[in-house]
Amino acid sequence: MIKLPPVITIDGPSGSGKSVLSKELSKYLNWYHLESGMIYRIFACLFLQKKSLILKKNLIIAFKNLENHFIYKKGAIKKLINKNFKYNYIISNNITYTASKLATIKYVRKNLLNKQRLFRQSPGLITNGRDMGTIVFPDAILKFFLKAELKCRVQRRLYELKKRGFQINFQDIFLQMKHRDDRDTNRSYAPLQPSKNAIIIDSSKMTFKEVLHIAIKHIKKNQYI
Ligand code: DC
Repeated sequence: MIKLPPVITIDGPSGSGKSVLSKELSKYLNWYHLESGMIYRIFACLFLQKKSLILKKNLIIAFKNLENHFIYKKGAIKKLINKNFKYNYIISNNITYTASKLATIKYVRKNLLNKQRLFRQSPGLITNGRDMGTIVFPDAILKFFLKAELKCRVQRRLYELKKRGFQINFQDIFLQMKHRDDRDTNRSYAPLQPSKNAIIIDSSKMTFKEVLHIAIKHIKKNQYI
């Protein structure tokens, strides 16, 4: 049987700290990195660029355009690039909302499934999202699920967005995040939930260094890494 490169998944709701953790772990292990939410966000940018009516033909156009945002190497995808979209637009409320809405559509998720799997390559992949441990890489050698109280996550997001020049208040983010949590968790296909064998870390009262320390301890203990 062919042995596939190892994968570590980090799932969790927005603001739980999964992006920064996966970035640090990919540096620590020198593995490839996939922020799967970015695929959904760039897909949303491309979708809104053309049409905003959710019709299959409009989704197909966006899928075609998405191809230009992947850099391939020997059949695998080395990198996702955002090309002509400004980072502040990609993380804006409009794109965040559209990405989460499009992510509820089974047809969209099915089309993005293989793309995400193509990021798997040697020496390994660290990836984060909502369904990475449950659907995309169910055979991952290590699965983390990060969670944190909604208020903590809102504070973190507020800090990040203010740093980037967004004028937004706690209440707005609180409501947006709550709605998005509900949509991501309650969609019928590939909802946000911990995989049965996931290590659950509640980061509400932890510093990032503490979370990183716990994750590295599990990595060191893992016989396949
Ligand atoms: O991780 P993020 O906040 O950048 O993700 C944006 C949206 O994309 C999120 O609200 C739901 C969707 N998403 C998803 O459904 N599955 C993933 N694996 C990653 C993101």
